[in-house]
Amino acid sequence: MELRVRRAPRIGAEITVPGDKSISHRAVMIASLSNGVCVLRGFLPSGDCMRTVQALSACGIKIEQPEPGMLIVHGKKRLLTPPAESIDCGNSATTMRLLAGLLAGQTFDSRLVGAASLSRRPMDRVIAPLRQMGAKIVAEGPNETPPLRITGAKLRGIEYNSPIPSAQVKSALLLAGLFAKGKTTVNEPVVSRNHTELMLNYFLVRTAREEDGGITVFGDQTPESRDFTVPGDISSAAFWLVAAGAQPGGHLLVRDAGLNDTRTALLGVLIRMGAQVREAVEDVDQMEPRGTVEITGASLKGTMIHGKEIPQLIDELPILAVAGALASGTTTIRQAQELRVKETDRIAAIAHNLRAMGAQVIELNDGLEIYGRGALRGARLASFGDHRIAMAFAVAGLFADGETIVQDAQCVHDSYPDFGKALDEIMNPKRQRVTTPVISSLTPSRGDDE
Ligand code: S3P
Repeated sequence: MELRVRRAPRIGAEITVPGDKSISHRAVMIASLSNGVCVLRGFLPSGDCMRTVQALSACGIKIEQPEPGMLIVHGKKRLLTPPAESIDCGNSATTMRLLAGLLAGQTFDSRLVGAASLSRRPMDRVIAPLRQMGAKIVAEGPNETPPLRITGAKLRGIEYNSPIPSAQVKSALLLAGLFAKGKTTVNEPVVSRNHTELMLNYFLVRTAREEDGGITVFGDQTPESRDFTVPGDISSAAFWLVAAGAQPGGHLLVRDAGLNDTRTALLGVLIRMGAQVREAVEDVDQMEPRGTVEITGASLKGTMIHGKEIPQLIDELPILAVAGALASGTTTIRQAQELRVKETDRIAAIAHNLRAMGAQVIELNDGLEIYGRGALRGARLASFGDHRIAMAFAVAGLFADGETIVQDAQCVHDSYPDFGKALDEIMNPKRQRVTTPVISSLTPSRGDDE
């Protein structure tokens, strides 16, 4: 599949985005461990999240899907049964790393395999701490890469100081901690997305936030079954927020988006770059804040993105790099070496595609320096099999002269199955729902904290 894109007309729209990918994974996993039936709404039926559904079904959990965004999960009080064959995690690192934690403390053996790109991704970050808990995990690939062979074992809680801020590492340990003796504490250098902690709390599992920011889960607990509605994915909204934000006079309202502040650092960056951004949290009933984001576009200016911000906008860096290329001045991204071990080497992929569109870019070990000139030219681009690269460069095409073609774009299905449809609506304004600005009725935005 290809995405064909041409310059966008003035954007003035009100949209919703599909359910949050990270939260969808966690909702299915924790509901599966619960003591009864849980109805999950707003679930993201994407390639990655469906891998998690299939994995838990393979472990004996009945999961019905009466409509794409609705799951009825029949929790069995933490009782899972041995999968008949290897569990295929496809491209989904979240599925593999979180399941490694969840399966390590079972009484049966399992094996996790992945597609080619996942099979190159590092698993030592979860294997090493899980082994400290008593897990028996062998990585069959070179340098601790998948497949993972897990022999069920008795686990004990540990305190782990994670060298990297990774929600996948933290979540693998917290899920393993549910099956461990004693308490499991994870400390991180910077707090990464906290959806697992919030979801555990929502399902009435006892956790504690340590004074120094670490998170503890107490062992041997069964989540209480509850219904849950997944908010829209701010990482999917990011593509349209940049599209409208980089367009002077562009205006976009995103309704019902997840506004967890471990995920919204991109809004602060867009404000620094000159866009007008407001967010209004309208609901925190299910622990995860959700509400409306409004952006009014401007001629953007370059910025520096580094340090504590990085873990909280790691998935938005491809589209923020595109914003940098559209801005005047230099945009620098540093301390983002994690991008090298995502679905593809995102630093190399961004540099390659931006250059193909005529931008001047320097590739750094841990990031990029982008010399924005405001103009891009249409090009035929590779997705590198990476959903966020495909979507970021489709948005770049909305600002380019001529036509941009993103090849092998079926990977958008990993996180945003209807991306092509949404893109079509942005390019065809007659089909947009035009909105009048509602800035005055929203709460003030986050400050510029640079
Ligand atoms: C995710 C955590 C992040 C993120 C990924 C989803 C999660 O990865 O990049 O897309 O759901 O926990 P890391 O934990 O490796 O930073």
